[in-house]
Amino acid sequence: MKPKIYITRRVPDAILEKISSVCEVRMWDKEDVPVPRDILLKELKDADGVFSMLTENIDKEALDQAENLKVIANMAVGYNNIDVAEAKNNGIIVTNTPGVLTETTADLTFALLMTTARRIVESSAYLRNGEWKTWSPMQLTGQDIYGANLGIIGMGRIGQAVAKRAKGFDMNVCYYNRSRKPEIERDLDISYLDFDSLITESDFICILVPYSPDVYHLIGQKELEKMKENAILVNTARGGIIDETALYDALQNNVITAAGLDVFEEEPISVDHPLLTLPNVVTLPHIGSASVNTRYKMADLTAENLIKTLSGKEPVTPV
Ligand code: GLV
Ligand code: GLV
Repeated sequence: MKPKIYITRRVPDAILEKISSVCEVRMWDKEDVPVPRDILLKELKDADGVFSMLTENIDKEALDQAENLKVIANMAVGYNNIDVAEAKNNGIIVTNTPGVLTETTADLTFALLMTTARRIVESSAYLRNGEWKTWSPMQLTGQDIYGANLGIIGMGRIGQAVAKRAKGFDMNVCYYNRSRKPEIERDLDISYLDFDSLITESDFICILVPYSPDVYHLIGQKELEKMKENAILVNTARGGIIDETALYDALQNNVITAAGLDVFEEEPISVDHPLLTLPNVVTLPHIGSASVNTRYKMADLTAENLIKTLSGKEPVTPV
């Protein structure tokens, strides 16, 4: 009997065919609407494996009724949407998609840094709104990227890939990480700073730590007040790492200069959210890994993890 798989969002046909060749597949067939919770719970009841997205909360309640579940293959590098400890208790393997999205996410992080520093979105709107009447010396001036201090919080794969890009722009790169990484410091010519020094001295701060309750509101009012007045904060990790109310106040009161955000405390962020009223905030709808190639690779790796685990082999990238 083929194992039963539930896929929580429409995936590319090639991926669906790959899984269907060895599994019995059911799929939430919509692209723009997440699977309703009650349907997810019902589908999990007799599934052997689930191909999940970061939009599905696979918590204790969901796991408790998933009697046959052997593997949760999450199509993301982050897996804070899954209660991994509870899954392990129940003998369920959890997998993610590290590696394949590193460079793409670093590209987006750097793009967001540059866009925010040089006020690209604001400048484009200025032109289109017919506000561009003449050229003037200080019109739409932003911050220099070259020569600036970049502080990276979290020196994992993506942090390293961002550091490489920053070196190419002649930035001075420092990082904070729970553990020091001397080899990476040598290889990339970057230096370690303790957390307080990093947030105090950086012109740009990129957040690239995996999400866990330990980093909930890592950046709040106190931290924002320590930052330079010209500081630009870029978050492509998880929204919960920044206290958005404190960030709004800091941006509104010129405590820091700007923020580039690809992730939010609640996603999708409401269009009425106060942050969206500020000209010095660039916002994106969680597109860090969104290149065609990378999304295929992530989906394919997720399929591999499912198929391998259900055929009794080691998954490629277990959590
Ligand atoms: C996206 O945010 C991911 O974790 O892959
Ligand atoms: C993600 O792959 C990271 O380790 O930064």
